Amino acid sequence: MAVKTHTVEVGYDEFCGALAAKDLQPLWTQSGKLMPKQPRPTTVPWLWKWDTIFALAERAGELITVKRGGDRRVLALANPGLDGQPYTSSTLWGAIQYLGPRESAPAHRHTPSAIRFVMQGEGVWTTVNGDSCEMRPGDLVLTPNWAWHDHHNEGDSPMVWFDGLDLPFVGMMEAVFFENHPDLRQPITDHNGSERRYGGRALRTRSIGGPLPHSPLLRYPWAETDRALAETLAAEGGPMVSLEYTNPLDGRPAIPTFSSEMHRLAPGGHTRPHRKVGSSVYVVHHGNGTTIVNGQRFDWSPGDIFVTPSWSIVEHQSAEQADLFSISDRPILQALHLYREAELEEPQEVIATFEPK
Ligand SMILES: [Fe+2]
Repeated sequence: MAVKTHTVEVGYDEFCGALAAKDLQPLWTQSGKLMPKQPRPTTVPWLWKWDTIFALAERAGELITVKRGGDRRVLALANPGLDGQPYTSSTLWGAIQYLGPRESAPAHRHTPSAIRFVMQGEGVWTTVNGDSCEMRPGDLVLTPNWAWHDHHNEGDSPMVWFDGLDLPFVGMMEAVFFENHPDLRQPITDHNGSERRYGGRALRTRSIGGPLPHSPLLRYPWAETDRALAETLAAEGGPMVSLEYTNPLDGRPAIPTFSSEMHRLAPGGHTRPHRKVGSSVYVVHHGNGTTIVNGQRFDWSPGDIFVTPSWSIVEHQSAEQADLFSISDRPILQALHLYREAELEEPQEVIATFEPK
């Protein structure tokens, strides 16, 4: 049998050019970048001030009409480390959504899941698969994967909430589907029905049907979150207690792809430095305080939003009681056995203070 051989007799640079011409790349020139000793996130720690984003959201309310095509009046919190992409971290979408008086955002659905954390306003509801869910400050409302949802403001004042989505991750997995509802408003079949069936207790109506791929509870009202935070802090003490919004049927995260959490810092609380794999986006609900991220000091007030990248060292501190809502990509990492966390002994040295734009 004849053996066919090919010999490449060229210099090194020419060889690399020959590889590129055939859509090949050497590993040996980039193995350190591809396999760093620990995560090297492109997401950078960042903070957006409420006064700044609210003023621009109001202006968007004057300039932009919510209608089919655009569908939503949303300002994405775009992390400067992500090369112009409209993402808050490499895996999480964070944004401000503004709905003016008597406005409606039309019904649609998509495979990226979303949570809405209400920051300001009254008299709005979001209909999720026929169930109209009230939205009041501090409430969390879910619009899970492929659930029809439309938002309505029947009040006289504008409404602002934080949108958290797994859109960067679902987009990276090339799994995004989107569909408009045939009508601007989907039919309403219930009002706060998920709370009646699944909220606030362990007794459930029988024969509700099989398990859903997400929490059947769609609204987590602030009053219950506040009570749970107060009771947990009283029982366990500070410096901070953290609660996760869960699926009441199985205790897993309310949205399978990202966690939603609420943290309460006790007055004078200062958490130990902590690092974890995966990013988090925080929304300040109450109180003034400071978070130190990799030696950089971020001062925050109600309505401010900030992001902590993967494996960054994070400490929270506050002179007064403070509540921080957050989302993180931890459930994906845990499901794939990629999650790690560590607590450090010594507080970080503060070497810089973040100056918001
Ligand atoms: Fe949507």
